Amino acid sequence: MLVLIAGITGSLGQRLARVALSRGLSVRGLGRSPDALSPELSWRLESFTKSTSYYDIPALDKAVTGVDAIICAYAPIPILDLDGHLLLRAAERAGIKIFIASSWSRDWTNIRFGDFEHYDNHIAFQTQVERTSPINPVYILSGIFADLLLTPYGPGGFEKNGEKVTMKYWGDGDVRSVWPWSTQEDAAEWTIDILMYGEGVQAGKGGFFKIRSGDTTIRELADVYEKVFGTKVEVAHEGSVGDLEADLARLRKEGGGANAVEIMAKAAAVVASKRGWEIPDFTVLEQFKKPTTLEEYFKGEKDKQNSK
Ligand SMILES: NC(=O)c1ccc[n+]([C@@H]2O[C@H](COP(=O)([O-])OP(=O)(O)OC[C@H]3O[C@@H](n4cnc5c(N)ncnc54)[C@H](OP(=O)(O)O)[C@@H]3O)[C@@H](O)[C@H]2O)c1
Repeated sequence: MLVLIAGITGSLGQRLARVALSRGLSVRGLGRSPDALSPELSWRLESFTKSTSYYDIPALDKAVTGVDAIICAYAPIPILDLDGHLLLRAAERAGIKIFIASSWSRDWTNIRFGDFEHYDNHIAFQTQVERTSPINPVYILSGIFADLLLTPYGPGGFEKNGEKVTMKYWGDGDVRSVWPWSTQEDAAEWTIDILMYGEGVQAGKGGFFKIRSGDTTIRELADVYEKVFGTKVEVAHEGSVGDLEADLARLRKEGGGANAVEIMAKAAAVVASKRGWEIPDFTVLEQFKKPTTLEEYFKGEKDKQNSK
């Protein structure tokens, strides 16, 4: 099988390419920056189509020629989440049926447009494709990437100032709200499993595939962090879920880019308080890779820090 990976020079894209090659697939790359690939990966590709932008139509048409499947792993930025799918139109012209859409996100099938701004484009894309395209894309819902767990975007809005580490919650969200997460390594392995063996995927039926390395609550995340890094985490109760919703409404009214991170963090906390991110019906794909545990992931990160 020849698979085209758009965004192959990126963080997930390179991982996807390595896994696909290790499973015996041929891989073609698409992107603006072929030099961003290591020579070791570059020379193993079937080819690389260099584009000037996501709207470089001749490059898109060239890239999709003769491939059996497409994985779109463009950067998660609003322009690419929607307009980047000009690639899907190129796939339509070439008669390709297997298209893994840029996703690897939290489960946005349980939320509505406007609940979490960052996913509005995913919802809009899916709606648009359903109404206008003969292609049934595959969407992969993976929870938050582990790299973001210890950032303001993660559960509890993790903050580290010197030695002081804090996480925040509202209502009883430290123990109740469940946040699925995945390492990029697990997500890449399971994406290739889904491409090769996912039910209906090779027949072009597409669909939602829900995966995750694990689930965590804010309290568990703080406990595992303390255990691995040896630093105390202050888990602070900030008020009721009503207080959180009122604050989010105020921030949205004020608007402006300055509030974007806080809006994203608080909107995610509101969804989590309603258990909206949970993935009870995830697909187990352990034949090639067992899920990474939170402790293993943090220990790996600690080892990387220590080896610098
Ligand atoms: N669940 C999560 O927490 C989470 C977090 C991060 C990402 N993701 C998902 O993972 C997927 C891949 O994300 P990533 O973090 O691996 O992406 P990334 O490394 O930021 O970017 C991937 C590639 O996108 C291309 N790109 C960036 N800006 C572009 C532009 N303006 N025009 C055209 N191409 C552009 C670049 O390739 P060239 O320079 O070669 O063109 C880049 O190497 C996305 O679907 C995203 O939604 C999920």
